[in-house]
Amino acid sequence: MPSHSWMMLESESPRHRLPDDLRARDPLGGRDCGWVEQMTPFVRQFSQPGETVFDPFAGFGTTLLAARLQGRTAAGCEVDAGRISLIRERLARHGLGDGLTLLHGSCDALDGATLPDIDLCLTNVPYFGCRWTGAAAVSQLYDSRSYAQYLDGLRDVFHGVRAKLREGGHCIAMVENVRVGDRVLPQAFDLARILGALFTMVEERVLVYPHAGENDTATSHTDRRHEYALVFRKERERIDLQATSGLLDALRAHGHAFTLIGSFARWLADPQGTPPADADIRVEADAQRLDALLRWLRGEGFSITSWGDPVALPLHFNGYRGRHYFRAERIDSRGALVRLDIGYEE
Ligand SMILES: C[S@@+](CC[C@H](N)C(=O)[O-])C[C@H]1O[C@@H](n2cnc3c(N)ncnc32)[C@H](O)[C@@H]1O
Repeated sequence: MPSHSWMMLESESPRHRLPDDLRARDPLGGRDCGWVEQMTPFVRQFSQPGETVFDPFAGFGTTLLAARLQGRTAAGCEVDAGRISLIRERLARHGLGDGLTLLHGSCDALDGATLPDIDLCLTNVPYFGCRWTGAAAVSQLYDSRSYAQYLDGLRDVFHGVRAKLREGGHCIAMVENVRVGDRVLPQAFDLARILGALFTMVEERVLVYPHAGENDTATSHTDRRHEYALVFRKERERIDLQATSGLLDALRAHGHAFTLIGSFARWLADPQGTPPADADIRVEADAQRLDALLRWLRGEGFSITSWGDPVALPLHFNGYRGRHYFRAERIDSRGALVRLDIGYEE
């Protein structure tokens, strides 16, 4: 793969394109189908022959075909039954129907045991506002009633991916910001935030596609012929251990009651052991005390999130019941991270 931050996709090879007769069987006419050429450089750079490439939004099997063409094992989930059969037929026509695991459903709703272990997750996410006309399915994100519900659905799916992705494996999602009605939704940036709560960001690339026609100079809108490939990796977060110890001392000094548990507590007892990726504390599920603690942290330069969502202060605790923890993070100007997970029992 070139080292440029952009990847220009010139044309789609007719040999690998979704065949017209299969396209005609799809309710959207295959208009949300990607290109094998788009996926192949990522398969090559981020996986080895024989490894498993997984697509949680398999669609027409473009990622799976790119993976099989490069000698990888392919696995995917797709909620639309019609598309599952299109994938089987498409790969069989290439003589690549073996080495393929296809699961009908959303990967977060499937029993974890049915999902394979994943070396690389490579996907093109379903877009919000696509006006799905196919069969209704509970987890069909094309059918989401609201943008918030859609983002929750994406989060659930990538949670499922995380559980099966090997340590050190990459999760790469292709996504664009979308125009829905007369507004632009920052879908790519919202997805980056969701993935950032699950994985470590490695880089992003801009994929640029050929123009459909003449350049329209009458409007300031882009023709949206670009998207992002967001590249994340599953790895233990490296935190600033000294600054984290200092934070715990400061919390005590300011009268915030907590119990230190988990890997940070173990590491303090045995500093030769595995360095922790965060500090876990337990506090009482008391709305007032939690509010005071989170405000203090905010004042010290921490961002506060709950399952990747920013938390507004003063705290409306009822909205966070059942979520079990808040995360406070501070990254300084050297890039050093302090991460505190604040668990509360209810
Ligand atoms: C952008 S398309 C993927 C196309 C694919 N990259 C290709 O080129 O063949 C997104 C797909 O996600 C599927 N989908 C939507 N919600 C899903 C979910 N929760 N789990 C699995 N698949 C889902 C849609 O039915 C659609 O086929």
